Amino acid sequence: MRFDPWNPDFVAHPYDVYAELRRAEPVSFFEPTGQYLVSRHADVNALLRDRRLGRSYLHVAAHEEFGQEAPPDFQEPFWRVINAGMLDVEPPVHTRLRRLVSRAFTPRMVESLRPRVRAIAGGLVDAFVAKGGGDLLAEVAEPLPVTVIAEMLGIPGDDRHLLRPWSADICGMYELNPSPQAQHTAVRAAAEFADYLKALARERRRQPGEDLVSALAQIEELTEDELVGTCVLLLNAGHEATVNVTGNGWWSLFRNPAELERLRADHSLLPTAIEELMRWDTPLQMFERWVLEDIEVEGVAIPKGVEVALLFGSANRDPEVFPDPDRLDVGRADNPHISFGAGIHFCLGAPLARIELMESFGALLEKAPKLELVREPVWKPGYVIRGLESLEVTTG
Ligand code: HEM
Repeated sequence: MRFDPWNPDFVAHPYDVYAELRRAEPVSFFEPTGQYLVSRHADVNALLRDRRLGRSYLHVAAHEEFGQEAPPDFQEPFWRVINAGMLDVEPPVHTRLRRLVSRAFTPRMVESLRPRVRAIAGGLVDAFVAKGGGDLLAEVAEPLPVTVIAEMLGIPGDDRHLLRPWSADICGMYELNPSPQAQHTAVRAAAEFADYLKALARERRRQPGEDLVSALAQIEELTEDELVGTCVLLLNAGHEATVNVTGNGWWSLFRNPAELERLRADHSLLPTAIEELMRWDTPLQMFERWVLEDIEVEGVAIPKGVEVALLFGSANRDPEVFPDPDRLDVGRADNPHISFGAGIHFCLGAPLARIELMESFGALLEKAPKLELVREPVWKPGYVIRGLESLEVTTG
């Protein structure tokens, strides 16, 4: 098999292909998308920190200079939202936005949320156990991070059911070559979400609460688009990957029963287990960067104006960094996985994600010690955002 992100077999089993890429062609040109695939950990890590690359080029050049067409007009409402969040801008705008938002995400601030996260996780798992199991993804993995981030932002309870569909539709644009239908769906979702948040921010400006939307609405240097872009980013980034780490993580444990037993016998392994599950089956398989100046990687000249595709899933299985990389080892001590990224865009929510994962895995280990798989799950078709359709289990 070759690198083929549109092939469900590849999406289900990408790791042998990655091993071959790392060994034979660590930087390889991928014709269908015109990108250079980068598969070794050292290179992925270095390029994420290299300022000659960017998530965007718009801070240094116009679309035409990069041989790109401006996005079609119908996509304007989508890019207006996305380009106003910190993830898709570069310094100096990135530095300013990240500074404003990061106050809410210091490890200490986030640690203060732990009791609430624990209570939500405990409640979800209690209800799940009471009915003997079901779809772990829909009933535990999704509602936990969505509830946490929605509470942080201050989205009223009655509106929370709107968030997950908006977010899923927006994420459709991030797959490689999204279909016209996926593009239209993403645009519509972004526009609806933006209108919703603008109305909420106006309300909170008049009558502030303790939440993040109120706090952001008070910051005069933040434009309305930036506020909307920040909230959409936090909601999307704040749950998609966490949901998938939970689903993929349990599926990994079920496929490695000895490691599951080891964890069940010793819950103090949970912190290393979470990191290992994030490494072994990476929830975000690939991130792209624009090359802003000519560079050379592994002896391959990569010209300005193209994109590199950084294969996180491959970097996380690199034997140069991880001894016996294909083995799941819930006690792996030295684990510099790249799943939260690196450099200036390093995941702002990493401390919160870790707390959510610790609390949900912890609650399930404690309250459902006999958790068992009912049937083999199916991967969603997307490659970049790697997740399962569902995960049917019984709690025994
Ligand atoms: C296990 C769960 C998570 C994973 C694997 C993850 C992964 C990542 C990665 C890889 C990036 C960098 C992307 C790049 O460099 O192109 C990123 C950025 C980001 N993440 Fe996460 N994330 C997770 C959870 C969260 C949570 C819970 C939040 C917030 C509540 C969050 C908020 C963000 C934000 C705001 C950024 C943009 C940072 C910037 O551009 O400076 N993430 N995340």
